[in-house]
Amino acid sequence: MKTGSREELVAQATQARKYAYAPYSGYTVGAALLTKSGQIYTGCNVENAVYPLCTCAERVAVVKAVSEGEREFEAIAISTKNGGAPCGSCRQTLREFGEDIVVLIADATGAYRKTTVAELLPDSFSPEDLN
Ligand code: THU
Repeated sequence: MKTGSREELVAQATQARKYAYAPYSGYTVGAALLTKSGQIYTGCNVENAVYPLCTCAERVAVVKAVSEGEREFEAIAISTKNGGAPCGSCRQTLREFGEDIVVLIADATGAYRKTTVAELLPDSFSPEDLN
């Protein structure tokens, strides 16, 4: 993945964060998921008065993409105010679709660090374990 494309993906995650519905936590998150076919699916966190129903931005992006026929992912950018890392549930959701997915963790300034699903979720349980 080229550096310019990384920055574009971070910019899309930053934009998606503006749509976050987070009246309870006040912690807004945006995500932008790049498919191997070159499409980008965005997501934001969507909270609920019934707190356990809150949905993370990353999972919104994955569900949007998969529900439109995409299963192969190159990278995901995640934008928060402070560069917070993705939660365990989102790591496992991404792992379902591969260990090599690049994860760009960005803060509100657009600064980001690059990691991978494998680094974020070592020794993971995966679809292969069910074979
Ligand atoms: N959140 C995400 O959207 N992604 C994560 O990986 C971590 C947490 C959201 C869930 C909730 O709406 C808010 O951030 C505070 O936990």
